[in-house]
Amino acid sequence: MYFVSINDVKTGMTVGQDVFTSSADAALLTKGQQLTERFIERMKEHGLPGVYIYDADHPTPLVLNNQPIISPQLKQEGLSAIEHMFDAIENSTSAEAVKVIRHLDGVVDNLINSLSYNQGVLINIDDIKSYDDYTYHHSMSVSILSIAIGIALGIPRSKLNKLGQCAVLHDIGKIFVPIEIINKPGKLTAAEFQEIKKHPLHGYAYVKEHNIGSPDVGEIICNHHEKIDGAGYPRGLKGRDIHLYSRIISVADVYDALTSQRPYRTPSPPSEALEFIMGGCGTAFDYEVVNAFVAKVELYPVGSYVLLSNNEKARVLSNHKSRPVVEIADSGNIIDMYRNPQYLNVVIKCGEHA
Ligand SMILES: [Fe+2]
Repeated sequence: MYFVSINDVKTGMTVGQDVFTSSADAALLTKGQQLTERFIERMKEHGLPGVYIYDADHPTPLVLNNQPIISPQLKQEGLSAIEHMFDAIENSTSAEAVKVIRHLDGVVDNLINSLSYNQGVLINIDDIKSYDDYTYHHSMSVSILSIAIGIALGIPRSKLNKLGQCAVLHDIGKIFVPIEIINKPGKLTAAEFQEIKKHPLHGYAYVKEHNIGSPDVGEIICNHHEKIDGAGYPRGLKGRDIHLYSRIISVADVYDALTSQRPYRTPSPPSEALEFIMGGCGTAFDYEVVNAFVAKVELYPVGSYVLLSNNEKARVLSNHKSRPVVEIADSGNIIDMYRNPQYLNVVIKCGEHA
C-alpha cells in the first residue's frame, strides 16, 4: 500500500484504505473501490492531498507515507492554543479563560480531520510528541491518542469533538495544585501525593463553575484516574460507572506519561508501555478500549532502534506490527523480518528509544 498524491492518482487504481472528509461520518471512498474520474474529481473538490493505493505485492503498508500523521503546523497551532488556555485559566479573568477554552474547538476539529483522514495509519508516538513543555505536549498527545482510540471504537465523527476537548482539558485541575509539588523532580511525600490526587476534582469544579461544554464534561474530566476495578481516585468508581470517554483518556494519559521524558525517569519504549497497558486490562483499564488502542499504535515506531534475539541492533524502517523491515546497525543490511528466510527465527527482544 502506498500513498499517492492527488496529482498522480489514476483511474483504475484500487483504494487501499477508507477516505474520510471533515464534513461527514461516512467514508467518501472505501477500501477496495476502484478510482474513477468522478471519484478523483470529488477528492479534489474536498481538497484531499491524495489516497492510499492498494498494491498486491505489498498488501500491508511496508512503506508508509513519510509525513507525520499530524502536520508540524497543526501540532504547533494546537500547542500554542493549549499554552494560551493554561495561561488564561491561571492569569486572566474567568470570562477571558472561558473564551480561550471555547476557541479550542477549532483546534480539536483539525486534529479529528487529520486522524480521520489517516485512520489506517498507525500512530508513531514520537511523531506527535514535542519535548519543550511537558504539560502542553501531554495535553496535546492525550487528545490525539484519545481521538484515535475513539475512531477505532467507531465513535461517530459528530461526537469526537467532545472527546478531544475533554482530553485537552483533563489535567486543568493541576493549575490549582501548588506548582512546587507539580514540578518536584523527586519522589512525592504521602501528603504531596494527596494534593496531586485532588486535581480531577479541581478540574471538575472549574468546568462546572464556568459552565464549560455539555453537562458531562466535568464528570469525564473528574474520572480520568478511576480504574476499572475501583482502585482509582478520586471516587473509586468501577467498570462502566466510569464514563467511556474517561476510560479512553485514562489509557491515552498513562501511555503518553510512560513514553515521556521526565526529570525523575527515562521514557519507556512504546513496546514496553504497551505491555504495561495490556497488563492492566480488566484492573486499571477497560478491555475494549485497550484493544482499540493496541490496534492504533506502532509497537516499534519507524526510526526507533530494536535489539534482535541474535543480538544485532537494528533501526526500524517500516511499521509492520511485530515483524518490521529493519536496517542492521553494523552491516547496514536491510532485512524484511516478515519475509527474509534467514530471519524467520529471529524476534525482537526489546525496543529502544531512538
Ligand atoms: Fe491527571
